[in-house]
Amino acid sequence: MGKVTVNDFWKKKVEGKKITMLTAYDYPFARIVDEAGVDAILVGDSLAMVVQGLENTLPVSMDEMLYHTKMVSRAVQRAMVIGDMPFMSYQASVEDAVRNAGRFLKEAGAEAVKIEGGAEVVEKVYAMVRSDIPVMAHIGLTPQAIHRMGGYKVQGRTEEARRRLLEDAKALQDAGAFCIILEAIPLDLARQITESLNIPTIGIGAGPHCDGQVLVLHDLLGLFERFVPKFVKRYADLKQDAIRAIGEFKREVEEGVFPSEEHSFR
Ligand code: KIV
Repeated sequence: MGKVTVNDFWKKKVEGKKITMLTAYDYPFARIVDEAGVDAILVGDSLAMVVQGLENTLPVSMDEMLYHTKMVSRAVQRAMVIGDMPFMSYQASVEDAVRNAGRFLKEAGAEAVKIEGGAEVVEKVYAMVRSDIPVMAHIGLTPQAIHRMGGYKVQGRTEEARRRLLEDAKALQDAGAFCIILEAIPLDLARQITESLNIPTIGIGAGPHCDGQVLVLHDLLGLFERFVPKFVKRYADLKQDAIRAIGEFKREVEEGVFPSEEHSFR
């Protein structure tokens, strides 16, 4: 079975088949996501919150993102691995953007990178793609802009904001992005953007009309509870399962049940 490539993303859009993507940040979870058959794994800067326990995604560094991306790349056989460019790794200059994006492919084994932003990042997307680095764009609620946006708020609610998001999406497509994430925007706007583009859209909090869907793995599995956005669906409660299993281990050790003969050497 071959690796998922940008061509598979485009083919799925043409054929009307949905694209699936999840985040993963380490070897064991990346293996699970890959074995489950998901098309792409995003090593998201959301790891700042769900793995590092930070307040938001701004502090995570390039070196930390590369460290996690390496672990994920090592685990994955089929899914496309996408490295998420952290805050200030691409904003200051086109040169920063190309050099740092290149590190994800050269040092960490990613096959693409993701950056947040619309018109303001178009020249960076253009330069990265010309350097043979596939770029996934990300518009709508962009968590690295939390301070400018005044919090994690649904975007594209006014006519002006809708028009800007549509223009951003087209400009990113023209610059060569192979795909665009739409985060926390009204579902009719997501539909309009999706229908106006040749490249696929991947939604998170953007309704059912996108060409694919992405969630943060720790949200889907019930491993992160500090806040759960409205768009998250929990498919498992691994935190409770883990607490039960660990509690059972503790009880069995305290009661002399574990280790038994079966788990001992003679
Ligand atoms: O960092 C991340 O996990 C993301 C997804 C939520 C799209 O950007």
